Amino acid sequence: MTPEDLKQFVRTVPDFPAPGILFRDVTTLIGHGPSLTAAIGHLATRAQASGATMLAGMEARGFIFGAAAAAHAGIGFIPVRKPGKLPVPTIGVDYQLEYGTDRLEIDPTTITPGQHVALVDDLIATGGTALAATELLRSAGAIVTHAFFVIDLPDLAGADRLRAAGVTVDALMD
Ligand code: PRP
Ligand code: ADE
Repeated sequence: MTPEDLKQFVRTVPDFPAPGILFRDVTTLIGHGPSLTAAIGHLATRAQASGATMLAGMEARGFIFGAAAAAHAGIGFIPVRKPGKLPVPTIGVDYQLEYGTDRLEIDPTTITPGQHVALVDDLIATGGTALAATELLRSAGAIVTHAFFVIDLPDLAGADRLRAAGVTVDALMD
């Protein structure tokens, strides 16, 4: 299946989680075997071509695509977690979402300084999550030059913000 073929498997839910938000729901895409396999394959191929030696995914939907793409590419995965989940000393950053605020944390010892780490998430909207993850990974010594998404919401300009931070952005669909 091509990335264009995958579009029909994304469900759109109006007014979730707040009035006025058009929620692009990947539950339907990941529940369809051929779509899930194709999405993971496309992300893994692109991530491999970027030269990344590890992938990092943001909790929670980034775990679904990121860990599977890393396994497909034969490289490791870094979980970028919501607060209070990791059992070791962490570094963290607060950030704004399209519909609220949140915090991301990592275990900095999972990264070897100078290592090329690419981001994977289901969706980029305002780019707040991906920018926060980029900042965190860089502060632990990672080189972050690429980010891969299933969906880009271009009206929210997150990809532009991420590019301005020196990250090449690649999404399977708008
Ligand atoms: C969603 C999505 C991205 C982020 C994108 O996650 O999975 O991580 O929002 O939005 P942004 O570009 O405006 O930052 P959410 O924070 O809703 O968490 P979830 O994956 O746990 O549902
Ligand atoms: N995360 C941030 N904005 C979103 C949207 N419109 N749909 C799905 N996930 C999102």
